[in-house]
Amino acid sequence: MSTFKGKTAIVSGAALGMGNLIARRLARAGANVLLTDVDRARIQATAREIRAAGGAARALRVDVRQYAEVERAAALAHKTFGRVDLLLNFCGGSPSRVFGRSEPFAQRDPALLEWGIDVNLRGPLYFCRAVFPRMIESGGGVIVNIGSIDGVTGSGAVEYSAAKSGMDGLTKSLAIVGAPHGIRAVCVVPGPVLTRPALAKMKTLLGRAAEPRELVDFILYLCSGKGAFVNGSCHLVDGGRACLAGV
Ligand SMILES: NC(=O)c1ccc[n+]([C@@H]2O[C@H](COP(=O)([O-])OP(=O)(O)OC[C@H]3O[C@@H](n4cnc5c(N)ncnc54)[C@H](O)[C@@H]3O)[C@@H](O)[C@H]2O)c1
Repeated sequence: MSTFKGKTAIVSGAALGMGNLIARRLARAGANVLLTDVDRARIQATAREIRAAGGAARALRVDVRQYAEVERAAALAHKTFGRVDLLLNFCGGSPSRVFGRSEPFAQRDPALLEWGIDVNLRGPLYFCRAVFPRMIESGGGVIVNIGSIDGVTGSGAVEYSAAKSGMDGLTKSLAIVGAPHGIRAVCVVPGPVLTRPALAKMKTLLGRAAEPRELVDFILYLCSGKGAFVNGSCHLVDGGRACLAGV
């Protein structure tokens, strides 16, 4: 289990769900991990657990909407661990889930639109910009952006879907500007994942939602040497939800 020994990973949105799980898995596989999130208590608790189990982890409260905070995270990872190899952009969310607000688009508060774009697209873009020079200095790296099936099919959460589909262009562009420096960029596009029980209701061809580890296993493959030829592409991991229109 030392696939990532000596590598440094930054995880955004590491307090909960898949971001939290991948931070733990990377640490177990030998990586140094910087956990970032707005939820300071949770990332600090996870970093403590990782260290207690013999791993290397730090936690830093970062609001991805603020470039200065994102830059501080990239600098801290580089200073603490000497290099930055992996960026996992898990931060995100829809206003209905985070604020319990799901008013129709015609009545939607513009502040929610702004929040949805900032947390789901601007923040990941900021993180890519901040880690890029550190990855170049480290001789390359892998960036994983997290889209959503809602960005493929569209949804009533208009700003969320728009931001998530933006991860496609972001990823392709990063692959272009990253290739001369050995930086790969990939996007993983989940369907429903059981990070919360309500998602069990979302239909898929397989008749179930994914376990978080099913996404995380795939992402770890993409980050490892086994995924070395995967670049500039988006990967649906949705149990066939995108095919439901053809049923
Ligand atoms: N769970 C699903 O079914 C599903 C489906 C498709 C896509 N996704 C995407 O996968 C990613 C992870 O989702 P999840 O369900 O595993 O966990 P989650 O949605 O609970 O975790 C998102 C994390 O982002 C953090 N965050 C929110 N705003 C932030 C900000 N301003 N700055 C920094 N961090 C912030 C939250 O605190 C949280 O820890 C998200 O981007 C989500 O949109 C999830």
